[in-house]
Amino acid sequence: MATLNPVRVTEQAHDLAAAVLQPGDIAIDATAGKGRDTAFLAKLVSATGQVHAFDIQAEAIQSTKNLLQIAGLSSQVSLHHRSHAEMKSALPPEHWGRVSVVLFNCGYLPGSNQKIATQPKSTIKALEAAYELLKPQGRIVCVAYTGHPGGREESSQIHDFADQCIARGDKVEKLNYHPTFARPWILAVTRQN
Ligand SMILES: C[S@@+](CC[C@H](N)C(=O)[O-])C[C@H]1O[C@@H](n2cnc3c(N)ncnc32)[C@H](O)[C@@H]1O
Repeated sequence: MATLNPVRVTEQAHDLAAAVLQPGDIAIDATAGKGRDTAFLAKLVSATGQVHAFDIQAEAIQSTKNLLQIAGLSSQVSLHHRSHAEMKSALPPEHWGRVSVVLFNCGYLPGSNQKIATQPKSTIKALEAAYELLKPQGRIVCVAYTGHPGGREESSQIHDFADQCIARGDKVEKLNYHPTFARPWILAVTRQN
């Protein structure tokens, strides 16, 4: 079975997000990192939309801020230096139930402290909060990795979250997933109601 390289994984995650995003929409980048995913979402929602971007590392928030300034996208992005597990309380209540896309790119920031990686417990809390914030037909796109400490457990719990969404009747896609091979994969959940 063919596997995806990391660049292709990111491109596929972007394609899945772009398929449901329109100018004027609200989107969330749950793991801002160097800001590339935030900038991608910000371009798609345009100046009439809004992106909320989260990261627990000050360095990541600063990198994202710099990238947005260079790209002229700062006005449509709110940066939150806090855990994505707190995303619901960080968003203004008028955005609850109106979010079109929540994008997760799990793991650690390349070229940075590998110990500051996403963790199973907070990732699942954030996925549940993201689901609550979605509008009908809104989508969660989550890139899961297995290489960082706790990565296999995180990947397994993301898969359990996918099963809960299937049981609720949502549309669930698992790209590149394999139950035993440790490799990056993408979960896309499209909320049905
Ligand atoms: C793979 S990187 C994200 C890459 C990024 N989306 C980009 O375009 O450059 C993962 C990021 O998740 C962040 N992170 C880890 N735990 C987090 C949490 N609980 N809440 C928010 N961000 C977290 C890390 O600090 C790191 O910057």
